[in-house]
Amino acid sequence: MRVAVSGAGGRLGRALVEALEDAPFAGPFGPIRWRRPDYDLDDPGAAGRVVARDRPDVVVHAAAWSDVDACALDPDRAMRRNAAAVGEMAAACAGAGADLVLVSTNEVFDGERDAAVGYGPGDATGPLNPYATSKLAGEEAARAAWAAAGGLGAEARDGPLAPDGDPASLPAGRVTGPQLAIARTAWLFGAPGADFPSRILAAAGRARAEGTALSLVADEYGTPTYLADLADAIVEIIGAGAFAGTHHLVNAGPVSRAAWAREALALAGVRVETRDIPQGSFARPSRPPRAAVLRTTPLPSGEPMRDHALAMADYAPRLRRWLASGAGPSR
Ligand SMILES: NC(=O)c1ccc[n+]([C@@H]2O[C@H](COP(=O)([O-])OP(=O)(O)OC[C@H]3O[C@@H](n4cnc5c(N)ncnc54)[C@H](OP(=O)(O)O)[C@@H]3O)[C@@H](O)[C@H]2O)c1
Repeated sequence: MRVAVSGAGGRLGRALVEALEDAPFAGPFGPIRWRRPDYDLDDPGAAGRVVARDRPDVVVHAAAWSDVDACALDPDRAMRRNAAAVGEMAAACAGAGADLVLVSTNEVFDGERDAAVGYGPGDATGPLNPYATSKLAGEEAARAAWAAAGGLGAEARDGPLAPDGDPASLPAGRVTGPQLAIARTAWLFGAPGADFPSRILAAAGRARAEGTALSLVADEYGTPTYLADLADAIVEIIGAGAFAGTHHLVNAGPVSRAAWAREALALAGVRVETRDIPQGSFARPSRPPRAAVLRTTPLPSGEPMRDHALAMADYAPRLRRWLASGAGPSR
């Protein structure tokens, strides 16, 4: 099976490439890696070109403009990269009979719900910022492209395609015809130097140098998700064959930003004075949802993704090595 990954040089893209290299179904040469300048979200013809050239069976679309604050400052560019480009990729895949796994975000929800309840795949969306609006528009563009090319896919298909449905309700085994999966995730970590735990350790170093307390946002909740676990989950879903639908792929165990930060500090052995602050204390161009907690959907194995605390423990040695390398702050 030929699997292509867009955004192959990004944080998730790299984790996906690594996981797919181990997957028996991805063939001896591993996944096809699409990245700039070969595949550019700003180029309306790019998706059609790479799909026609490489003829993948499955595309995992991980490329996106993921800088939430930059998207807030340039919403039109965000729509181009996170919505229009997704529609073009979906049209190219559906037209070529290739499956598409589109990576999306918890931020499609407004986060006004109790964090202990969370959001399921079919719950009403309500993006609060331009990044979230563009990602939701990307989901809608993918569904529209699938529906537009749907005649072809529907003829070839022997199972239901339920882009908004519950993946658990899909038939077991392989379906024929192209499938669209939307894989929403959240609060990714596992790339030392470029994730929230690293930023907290860097901020702790600055706070200690300045003799101030480290401010931690205590009223924003989410589901920290380990990049390697997410990549494994996507690979498991592709390998299972029947994956059309909306999946919520997050590690279990929602927490506040402050609690997650304290986990990172403890695992890295960094001691610093902290103080809790409310979400609005930092002036930002974008407004994050207060509690856009995803309720995780089961993997084909039937198991939910593990608790994020277990994944953080696995990540801790890499975080500590990053600190020790001098790239991060000193203890
Ligand atoms: N990070 C999170 O916490 C989080 C949470 C929920 C959902 N997501 C979603 O997960 C996916 C992966 O995110 P990530 O954290 O891995 O982000 P990332 O590290 O910023 O990776 C994004 C990838 O997209 C590529 N890209 C950006 N602009 C592009 C353009 N104009 N043309 C072609 N490629 C372009 C980047 O290429 P370069 O390497 O060349 O810059 C990079 O490879 C995205 O869909 C994101 O919306 C992320």
